[in-house]
Amino acid sequence: MRHFFLAICVLVAPGHLLAETGYAAWLRYAPIDATIRKHYDALPANAVALGDSVIIKTAQEELVRGVRGMLGRTLQAEASLPRERAIVLGTFASLKPLIPAADFPQHVRNDGFVLKVVTLDGFSCLVIAAPNDRGVLYGVFALLSKIARHDSVYGLNEVQEPYAPIRWVNQWDNLNGSIERGYAGRSIFFENGSVRADLKRAADYARLLASVGINGCTINNVNADPRILESAFLPQLARVAEAFRPWGVALSISVDLSSPKVIGSLETFDPVDAQVGAWWRSKTDAIYRQIPDFGGFVVKADSEGRLGPSSYGRTPADAANVIARALKPHGGVVFYRAFVYNHHLDWRDPKNDRAKAAYDNFHPLDGEFDDNAIVQIKNGPIDFQVREPVSPLFAGLQRTNEAIELQITQEYTGQQRHLCFLPAMWKEVLDFDLHAGGGSTPVKDLAAGRTFHRPTGGFVGVANVGMDTNWLGHPLAMANLYGFGRLAWNPDLSARDIAEEWTKLTFGNDPTVVRTTTAMLLASWRIYESYTGPLGAGTLTDVLGSHYGPGIESSERNGWGQWQRADHEGIGMDRSVATGTGFVAQYPAAVAKLYESREKTPDELLLFFHHVPYNYRLHSGKTVIQHIYDSHYEGAAEAGDLVRQWSSLQGRVDDERYEAVRARLDYQAGHAIVWRDAVCNWFFRISGIADTRGRVGHYPDRIEAEAMQLQGYTPLDVTPPENASGGKAIVCEAQAQKCEAMLRFDRPAGRYELDVEYFDQNNGESKFRVFVGNKKVDEWIADDRLPATKPGGDSSTRRRITGLALRPGDEIRIEGSPDGAERAPLDYIEIHAR
Ligand code: GCU
Repeated sequence: MRHFFLAICVLVAPGHLLAETGYAAWLRYAPIDATIRKHYDALPANAVALGDSVIIKTAQEELVRGVRGMLGRTLQAEASLPRERAIVLGTFASLKPLIPAADFPQHVRNDGFVLKVVTLDGFSCLVIAAPNDRGVLYGVFALLSKIARHDSVYGLNEVQEPYAPIRWVNQWDNLNGSIERGYAGRSIFFENGSVRADLKRAADYARLLASVGINGCTINNVNADPRILESAFLPQLARVAEAFRPWGVALSISVDLSSPKVIGSLETFDPVDAQVGAWWRSKTDAIYRQIPDFGGFVVKADSEGRLGPSSYGRTPADAANVIARALKPHGGVVFYRAFVYNHHLDWRDPKNDRAKAAYDNFHPLDGEFDDNAIVQIKNGPIDFQVREPVSPLFAGLQRTNEAIELQITQEYTGQQRHLCFLPAMWKEVLDFDLHAGGGSTPVKDLAAGRTFHRPTGGFVGVANVGMDTNWLGHPLAMANLYGFGRLAWNPDLSARDIAEEWTKLTFGNDPTVVRTTTAMLLASWRIYESYTGPLGAGTLTDVLGSHYGPGIESSERNGWGQWQRADHEGIGMDRSVATGTGFVAQYPAAVAKLYESREKTPDELLLFFHHVPYNYRLHSGKTVIQHIYDSHYEGAAEAGDLVRQWSSLQGRVDDERYEAVRARLDYQAGHAIVWRDAVCNWFFRISGIADTRGRVGHYPDRIEAEAMQLQGYTPLDVTPPENASGGKAIVCEAQAQKCEAMLRFDRPAGRYELDVEYFDQNNGESKFRVFVGNKKVDEWIADDRLPATKPGGDSSTRRRITGLALRPGDEIRIEGSPDGAERAPLDYIEIHAR
């Protein structure tokens, strides 16, 4: 009997919460409960699509699909009014014969739409109308999103318009199928040097993009392989364009400026050379012959080793314009990236400053770019750090189109292993008032081209989705892709609105799930910042390698210019005009006044603009050094608390996604401690100033692996030393098949939590087994794909064994079996009373 009851529970309970892989992202169209579904009973039974463009057809199919999924009803797809109530989809032009103009708004921007209840032929119809096909599709997605979030759809009368014409994503995919700074598997576009045979995922990606209003996608790395422009490659690109087309997503590609020489067999790629101009024209014409709705090109030149116009003493405007002119007759645009800087800067010269590069290179060219050229500017003057001020170049171009480049892929913000909801950061950037022209000029208006009435402009997000089923690796990271689209459509939305919307669409409308997930998302950027990068000094990560774990000194004494200039006395880059690099002068006066002054600079950016002693007092009243200690301890504790918050949702979220998120949060909580310890110990060592709260350097529950009784294991110095506890790991000796680290437990009997901190490299899959006495209490394989080949801050990770009964005298033994180059490395254990 008992078994029978259990079986029923198993069958019934998950009916509510079917396991989900995350592939559907925010377009799940999950069945809506019968009680709520009733509110939608009065929706018409027909979906009429006027016109036969592929996008309108797609819109109709999507409407049918969404309503079927959520409401369990199959709309009749019609091509003309059925003489009964209907949902009618069409462009303004196709609706004109049916609806008197006065009943409709006359001026809606392209891609915008109207959702309005109108009487047609005597029947009340819900009309989804737009100036162009794409707008109709966006209107359908908006309607379906309302239903999914249980909003009312009756008596609708609303107009939505995009903030800017450019709402694009960039993918940094290589033709061999890898992705630069991609953290979710291989490319969905390329494999072994060609476009993939199966482009289903490319089409599904376009659908996701369209659902949040993204209208362009650049599919290859900005560090472009010139082969992408070879004639033989164009038909392959045309296949991608075909997959995108139903969703109104324009295909674009990154191009290498030296292409005319490298693949075009010209002697030069000098942008002002007539033959080079002709080459770009004929190449572009050939592309448009195969892809008539092609979007344009993205160019990274004179940057990080890429060739560029400087080879011929030409300017970025010369280079952008030669390509812009080839695109112009076809309506295409060229994005010229402002990420141009010298990565061989002399670090000894205190006046040198990479932050100045974009403005120095582009501001003098203002007004020289053609109307279909867009300067693509990263949000900050360095490179997607966890916190930067906004780039002054947004204000420095008044007669040039611009677009803001935001990074969705979490290169410096935890690589989708740490939770970091970026719309919270982007909102601060977009709303920042640069005072560029007298009145208020927030970055969003400058980028969108509104401030100086530019013909185009907008938003570009570096997305880097991959073949991982859930697109971005961390299930919650999809909130960043969604949030990018929503902000590009309407940057006036709040981060909270976006987090709530996304959570409802992704996990359903349970208020507890919505409240908890939203709170976690909203707090996550600040939490990540607080254990990785203090006071605007940048993410203190390994800038020469993975850009992932702690690497505090890696930014110093090299030409890359991500310096934070910490020494025994103090820390920070002096970028003031009075005594520093003069970067501050690139901002309009009102902003420069703020940043020039140490006292007025907000705490969170202090070290970006000023070099201060460690005992400098912040507005918060704390000294800089104590802030560093406190924020790292608080941040790590809050990362731990994210696990607790998420755990409260067990049973309210389907098990599959619950577990996937839980696993990442567990890992993050452990890695936040690695960060905390590395940063705090490094600053303690260099400043010599103790933590007033006595935490730094004292770990009462910790036992270093090298202090345990070892068999076959040998200590190893880790570099930099702060990236392992006590500066050391233990690794199995070269020939050892099995190694052991032991200790005798000498604390009172009770239940304990045992944390094993070990290193999981990507060049081996060691096995670990933990014994108490003769009893095995846990075992696992170190088979994660962390970006590291040796023990260090990137590979350090934690195994938590909970509820372990221990008695004084018990022997705790960890057995490691090495594999390949991974020698079963261990750092320490911690035994916490619980
Ligand atoms: C960063 C990133 C590079 C990328 C570059 C760019 O530096 O680490 O991988 O190519 O940005 O934006 O061009």
